[in-house]
Amino acid sequence: MSDISNKISVSVPAEELIKQREYTALVREIIEQRYSESPKAFVHTYGCQGNVSDGERLEGMLEEMGYDLTDELEGADLVLYNTCAIREHAEDRVFGNVGALKPAKNANRDMKIVLCGCMMQQQWVVDKLKKSYPFVDIVFGIHVMHRLPEFLYLNLARGKKIREFPEHDGVIVEELPVHRDSEFKAWIPVMYGCNNFCSYCIVPYVRGRERSRDPEAIVEEAKLLVSQGYKEITLLGQNVNSYGKHPDYGCNFSELLRRLNDIEGDFIIRFMTSHPKDCTYELLDTMASCQKVAKHLHLPFQSGNNRVLSEMNRRYTREKYLDLLNYAYSVMPDLSVTSDVIVGFPGETYEEFLDTVSLVEEAKFTSMYTFIFSSRNGTKAASMPDPISREEKGRWFRELLDSQEKIAAVRTSSMVGKTYRVLCESVSKGGLIEGRTGGNIIIEFPADKSVIGSFRDVKVKESLTWILRGELQ
Ligand code: SAH
Ligand code: SF4
Ligand code: F3S
Repeated sequence: MSDISNKISVSVPAEELIKQREYTALVREIIEQRYSESPKAFVHTYGCQGNVSDGERLEGMLEEMGYDLTDELEGADLVLYNTCAIREHAEDRVFGNVGALKPAKNANRDMKIVLCGCMMQQQWVVDKLKKSYPFVDIVFGIHVMHRLPEFLYLNLARGKKIREFPEHDGVIVEELPVHRDSEFKAWIPVMYGCNNFCSYCIVPYVRGRERSRDPEAIVEEAKLLVSQGYKEITLLGQNVNSYGKHPDYGCNFSELLRRLNDIEGDFIIRFMTSHPKDCTYELLDTMASCQKVAKHLHLPFQSGNNRVLSEMNRRYTREKYLDLLNYAYSVMPDLSVTSDVIVGFPGETYEEFLDTVSLVEEAKFTSMYTFIFSSRNGTKAASMPDPISREEKGRWFRELLDSQEKIAAVRTSSMVGKTYRVLCESVSKGGLIEGRTGGNIIIEFPADKSVIGSFRDVKVKESLTWILRGELQ
């Protein structure tokens, strides 16, 4: 594994992709013979946007093989779960949903069940599937995702059960077909994997070492999207700030933002996730000076206590984090900052937790994702003593939410009366148009559906803690 982290990127060889295109054609032939109309594939992705972006590629491959995508699980000819391993709850849901497919599989042996994604990179999951879920047809790990056509062919043509988990990691696959879920918002992965080994986190184990895509490939993908009318591009990576860190790379994340900002057209650029240890003043200055870069920073802090941060292996202090925020607000007074936080890390005391509450009060986040610590097999934190009960952690969790709620309410009410440029996205349950400000805050307003997919100026009339109500200008 380690030699890969020293390379810029390791692309899957062209011959391998040609082979997969041949398998795609073979699957198409089988499908045309077996089905009178296109079979239906139900794809569900769990977890982060990086996984959602993988899911769009899996969908693209299925479409090329002749499947129609469906939102209805019932009656699907193929069910694919692209899984997430970040917390126990995410994994429990997958096991529950796979178990629930058993009666349908018994009734229709031709229905195919496919499992992939982060969970499948763990040996204990593979063992559990073998023992308790033998009816699953195809299971494969992240680093062979591009071989879906081959796996499906071997299963459809030869009835072969697939269990494929090569140890190697570090590949980058360019040029996979992609089914984009939206016609105006697109994800672009810029880097894969993670080298940070935060002590609670499973990601480096399942996603492998950090590797960055070629900047040219990213710029070309963005140009194509803009020419197709996309209005929002979100750059993805577990730690985008360390994009292109290799000394020979010649393009760090700030430079990548500048190159994307130079693309002509009316669109905005978002990115996530930033890691405070790699977030530089240069990056914040670049955000401030690049007109197309949304003034939204997702900067997870995880804990406000220095001992806990050190045990988490986050490699920054509370002071450094707050200093970054101060600088960011000084160069972008309108900046909206969101964050992630973990409550109840092993050994955390109530006093230490109160440091998290006070950081939240100082930081003035627009919103925050709060998680209760979930022990992950094989991580360092899994073996740390964890004496605080789940109930107690639940009380801390609610205390933190209460305090963030008050802060968010002050923040959104300060926006009343101002006008923001909003990307109109969908129709809300109440029949209003729902859009997002550059700061990623949801705003609802009455308008015709035809505004969806365009930027409009919307004046804020009312704030409802987390979201805004407004009117078109
Ligand atoms: N790369 C991003 C985070 C990706 S995971 C970063 O470093 O910020 C998204 C969030 O899940 C993390 O920020 C963390 O708050 C939470 N998380 C990760 N592992 C967890 C665990 N074992 N228990 C609870 N929350 C966890
Ligand atoms: Fe996990 Fe830390 Fe990597 Fe984020 S930076 S993915 S929290 S190990
Ligand atoms: Fe989950 Fe894998 Fe993302 S563990 S959060 S889907 S990188």
